[in-house]
Amino acid sequence: MSNVLPRKTFAIISHPDAGKTTLTEKVLLLGGGIRSAGTVKGKKSGKFATSDWMEIEKQRGISVTSSVMQLHYKDVQINILDTPGHEDFSEDTYRTLTAVDTAVMVIDSVKGIEAQTLKLFKVCRMRGIPILTFINKLDREGKEPLDLLAEIEETLEMETYPMNWPIGMGKRLSGIYSIPDDTVEVYNEDHERTVIPYKEATQLADHERETLEEEIMLLEEAGNEFTMEKVQNGELTPVFFGSALSSFGVQSFLDQFVKLAAEPQPRRASGELVAPDNKDFSGFVFKIQANMNPNHRDRIAFLRVCSGSFERGMEVVLSRTGKKMKLNQSSSFFASERETVDAAMPGDIVGLYDSGNFKVGDTICTGQDRIQYEEMPQFPPEKFAKITAKNALKHKQYHKGIEQLVQEGTIQLYKTPYFEDYIIGAVGDLQFQVFEYRMKNEYNVDIEFSYMSHELARWVTKGELKDNMTDSRKMLVEDQQKRPVLLFENEFALRWFQDKNPDLQLATGWDIL
Ligand code: G4P
Repeated sequence: MSNVLPRKTFAIISHPDAGKTTLTEKVLLLGGGIRSAGTVKGKKSGKFATSDWMEIEKQRGISVTSSVMQLHYKDVQINILDTPGHEDFSEDTYRTLTAVDTAVMVIDSVKGIEAQTLKLFKVCRMRGIPILTFINKLDREGKEPLDLLAEIEETLEMETYPMNWPIGMGKRLSGIYSIPDDTVEVYNEDHERTVIPYKEATQLADHERETLEEEIMLLEEAGNEFTMEKVQNGELTPVFFGSALSSFGVQSFLDQFVKLAAEPQPRRASGELVAPDNKDFSGFVFKIQANMNPNHRDRIAFLRVCSGSFERGMEVVLSRTGKKMKLNQSSSFFASERETVDAAMPGDIVGLYDSGNFKVGDTICTGQDRIQYEEMPQFPPEKFAKITAKNALKHKQYHKGIEQLVQEGTIQLYKTPYFEDYIIGAVGDLQFQVFEYRMKNEYNVDIEFSYMSHELARWVTKGELKDNMTDSRKMLVEDQQKRPVLLFENEFALRWFQDKNPDLQLATGWDIL
């Protein structure tokens, strides 16, 4: 059992196509003892997800279920939590980031920072976790390295510190210089890893040396000061350049990752910090996955272990209700072959069979005091639809299904004032599909969707609301806690409204916990 190894638990934040899958595959190849749940999306390698957990998954040939992968590297157990992107982007992608201790931001050197990276970055920023940056596709003609650093600093308001520096790019790429080691990893077509001291890198042309030395000097003079404290607080991101596709720079990245990534840190629960080495076990549910095995109609609650140690069969308390429960055989590590886990440490993820007890954000613990980890943030939805049951006679199942699925965190629910029309909100289309599928399969209700053109939600946190707040460009609704929320069609409608109503204070969701 590897449970004595220190844990480094991370997820990749990136925009589709930046190279998350490729980098994950290359990192897994470098570490032994891979255990994975599902497979890496693998659309390129032809390895479609082998799981048959969800019909949707099969139909679409993608891995909807976010997976947990494990590797051992240099006496560290690395847990990688997959963050579904693309069309499978959903609130679960955000929630996964609440369960990691480090984020790796993968940026395409040609495109720079893109929209989805920015959204995911916000969750990491809120949590103040370390962010390591991998600037990918160095084998392509991309933006200038100095410009990329400036872009990160300006867009994300985070200091950068390059750990290595490219020598050329695209067709002119001849190597990367490692700043801490004063070595060069030579780029060659056959992807053989060759690392040599800089002084001995005779294959570098004079002009390459000149440019490199000039740039390194500039970085030394004008660059930021590296401190581990800034890295750990997410104020400074160590930046690595490389090419995941040709495995170039991946091993040096991983060598530094094990040093720079955070081990599980104390987390705030019930107003106090709970340290991972606290003797009492505690953890929180960050995601609930349904129907992973269609034959059993079961659900799995993904638990992040935060303190103490998890043991199969242990008795715990669900903090929200005070209910005692035994985590017996039903607890399993979440792996492709659902392997039973006997023990898990802070930083690990455990899959718990769930018959409807858990809610996203729930804490379970042992010990005298019932503690509650901080609630999940309100992730701002960007897609909305009015819903009704196709068959009005099924209203009982309809309401029951919605209540359950909202509680699980599958979808967000809003209602219009007075008429109480149901409006569902999501961050990605996948949530609508999963909702529709589960309403049909678990509650036998067909849903009629009327998709709305609204894209922005703003919580009204201060000011007097007038009755005529709904018109063709915006709609007033209430969230589950009966808080007033305005849905806008676009930024223009939002700005127009703000100009006309300067006394109203609007929050984006991120800012109301
Ligand atoms: P994602 O998970 O972030 O969506 O990205 P993924 O790894 O699937 O990579 C997206 C595309 O970028 C793939 O190409 C992949 O091969 C390519 N790619 C990844 N890393 C690098 C790199 O270092 N250099 C270059 N030049 N390309 C890279 P594709 O055209 O979508 O698929 P394929 O048919 O080429 O495999």
